[in-house]
Amino acid sequence: MKTTTKSDIKITKTNHSKIQDTDFDNLAFGQVFSDHMLVCDYKDGKWHAPEIVPYGPITLDPAAKIFHYGQSIFEGMKAYKDASGGVFLFRPMENIRRLNISAKRLAIPEVPEDYFFEGLKTLLKVEKDWIPTAEGSSLYIRPYVFATGAGFHASPANAYKFIIACAPSGAYFSGKVNVLIEEKYSRSANGGVGFAKAGGNYAGQFYPTQLAKDKGYQQVIWTDDTSHEYIEEAGAMNIFARINDTLITAPISDRILDGVTRKSILDIAKAEGIKTEVRKISVNELIEASKDGSLKELFGAGTAAVISPISGFGFRDEDFELPILEHTYAEKLKKLIIDIQTNKAEDPFGWRVEVM
Ligand code: COI
Repeated sequence: MKTTTKSDIKITKTNHSKIQDTDFDNLAFGQVFSDHMLVCDYKDGKWHAPEIVPYGPITLDPAAKIFHYGQSIFEGMKAYKDASGGVFLFRPMENIRRLNISAKRLAIPEVPEDYFFEGLKTLLKVEKDWIPTAEGSSLYIRPYVFATGAGFHASPANAYKFIIACAPSGAYFSGKVNVLIEEKYSRSANGGVGFAKAGGNYAGQFYPTQLAKDKGYQQVIWTDDTSHEYIEEAGAMNIFARINDTLITAPISDRILDGVTRKSILDIAKAEGIKTEVRKISVNELIEASKDGSLKELFGAGTAAVISPISGFGFRDEDFELPILEHTYAEKLKKLIIDIQTNKAEDPFGWRVEVM
């Protein structure tokens, strides 16, 4: 594999920075984009050297296979800046490896790990002033690969583009969310692409989520596709339930994303002496636990939202409220993980990577 050093990465800077027009005190999630992006092309059977270019529109052939067959994958990462200006990533190799796990499943050529990592570090050096420091904000990083090769034949493309774009962002959700347990639609199936971060996994959620929204819920809890008896994910996040004092999450599978936040929370919880279980959680168990008061918390976990507490869930025609607790696992674990990510706490796990 060719090693990419910083000097290999051509940088073309913008003449029109948007940074002065950006309100860093009122950042939504993923709505404004930084000045530059990394672009790397696959053609003639290989990935070509990544470049940093001004952020802006790209031109594609109308027959590019991304438009017709949805050959597209992505990742979600964040960069954080501490009080002394140090810049950090959180477990970046997990995202780099997972992008290539997704690539393999979608018949996309794997991106050389050093192109990704060295390219990202170079991009962050160029974009360091875009990394927000306000509490709860970060530079959300979106690496993605899609088929640019043209043709209506339903087969893998012969050309691809890998882009890393960045968006200074605030919270993904504000406040608690009310969710509907879904019994008709499925997010994924055995043998499918649920474990991959394929764009289509998310597109397939929009319609059922809209139906749930029409009924007054904000998100859907996905259940297994065969029996719909077991809860699997919460919207675009992994799901955790606290029953009495045990924190439970569903095991990863063909259908469930191996979330970086999910596995970090499990490790942090164990280190805090919280009893954890990785096992199937049935809808029935959730309802019984809600009725007898042992269901204390439900929350989603993912890079974008970190931890998103759930206030209640609907199942068929019944609604179940979660209790309002003074000290929640969600709050405690969210603070612990964010303090590690933002260099406010020791990192006994060795997850934080200083970029500059
Ligand atoms: C993330 O949490 O980073 C994700 O990839 C989910 C996305 C839909 C925002």
